[in-house]
Amino acid sequence: SDGSSEYVKCKGCHGSDGSKAPLGVDSAIIKGQSKAEIANKLKGYKDDTYGGAKKSIMKSQSKRLSDDDIAALADYISKF
Ligand code: HEM
Repeated sequence: SDGSSEYVKCKGCHGSDGSKAPLGVDSAIIKGQSKAEIANKLKGYKDDTYGGAKKSIMKSQSKRLSDDDIAALADYISKF
C-alpha cells in the first residue's frame, strides 16, 4: 500500500506535513518522529498498549490498518 494515499485520511487532524497538534493535543506532533516510533505507536493504538487521553480516536483510525499499511504510513510520515 502507498503511504501518501493512506495519509489522506490523517491530514485533517495531523496536517499535510504532520506538524499540526491533532484536536489540540500538544504532545502528539508526528513530524520529526522516526519510522520505527510511528509504526510502534500505530501498532500500540491497535492492540491497546499505547496512547494518551484521546487514544480511542486513534484506535478507531488504526484498527483497519494492516501491517503493510502501517509500514507504508510510517515510512511516508518519517520523511516529512
Ligand atoms: C496520535 C498517526 C489519523 C487524531 C497519533 C500518533 C500517531 C498518529 C503516530 C501518536 C503521536 C504520539 O503520541 O507521538 C495517525 C495516522 C492517521 C491518523 C497515520 C491516519 C491513518 C488521525 C485522525 C485524527 C487523529 C483522523 C482525528 C480525528 C489524533 C489524536 C492523537 C493522535 C487526538 C493523540 C491520541 C492520544 O491521546 O494518544 N496519530 N493519525 N489522528 N492522533 Fe492520529
